[in-house]
Amino acid sequence: MKTTTAFAALAALIQQVTSQSIQGGALYSLPSGSSDTINTISGTFRVPDASVPIHGPTSGHKGIYAFGIWVGIGGWQGYGSASGCAAGTGVLRAGIDVYYDGFSDVPMVPWAWYQYGVSNEAGAFAYAGFNLEAGDLIKITVNGASNNVTAIIENYGKVTSTQGRQPIQRAPPTYGFQGNNVANTLCRTEAGWIVENHMTETSPPEPVVLANFTEVAFGELDIKTSAGSATAAQAKLVDINIPEQGGKLTACSAPSGTEVRCRRVLEA
Ligand SMILES: *[C@@H]1O[C@H](CO)[C@@H](O)[C@H](O)[C@H]1NC(C)=O
Ligand SMILES: *[C@@H]1O[C@H](CO)[C@@H](O)[C@H](O)[C@H]1NC(C)=O
Repeated sequence: MKTTTAFAALAALIQQVTSQSIQGGALYSLPSGSSDTINTISGTFRVPDASVPIHGPTSGHKGIYAFGIWVGIGGWQGYGSASGCAAGTGVLRAGIDVYYDGFSDVPMVPWAWYQYGVSNEAGAFAYAGFNLEAGDLIKITVNGASNNVTAIIENYGKVTSTQGRQPIQRAPPTYGFQGNNVANTLCRTEAGWIVENHMTETSPPEPVVLANFTEVAFGELDIKTSAGSATAAQAKLVDINIPEQGGKLTACSAPSGTEVRCRRVLEA
């Protein structure tokens, strides 16, 4: 291959990789040069309904469709991650994965998970026995303030009011939070409320085939920093964009400082 052709191929590959984003939602970063740290982030959302995309290149996919929703501190680089955290720093987050079985054309049971550490250090661990179904109101609170970090998930069921509500289930992590390893590597300059077309655990990893889903509305959003607080209005909005799956796949907006909404779309 002539060098010029190799360069052209490389440029095309870089273009493709840089235009890919596996994340939609809102990502808050401390101003550069700030010596503050992010202590906690929280937010609610309802478990959406998943379905098969009826338009676009993935509509006939005979396999699993999926997506995740998470709230957390820190981020990993690579594969279309929107994170600006330095390589080698860690995450602390909790979320849910929603699946749709395109073989049998049936929704699958979503599951709740937490994840921590530097990239490739640890997968996502299930909150064992934590039940979820479409329409449930989920609250996630991640605290990275001290060495005693936590990632709490609560399920408030189908409640429609914040007044006097009680979680029907509440779960702290059950594995891996002993010791200071999580706290030592955590990237405390970034936090987000994210819908993610997460990567498969195949080699090489590739983005899962994104399911269609009803709008994800993050609410009651709150970030506490060492210096005060931050809102979704100060966060950067990002959208899932996977050229092979049809282009821009979410339309996320922040109608107010305490709310971020992501619709599943298909825009070439
Ligand atoms: C997702 O489902 C909605 C509601 O049925 C539909 O209007 C929309 O076209 C679907 N999106 C895709 C990409 O198929
Ligand atoms: C860590 O945090 C949990 C939850 O807030 C609390 O119950 C526990 O006592 C804390 N442990 C230490 C060693 O501070």
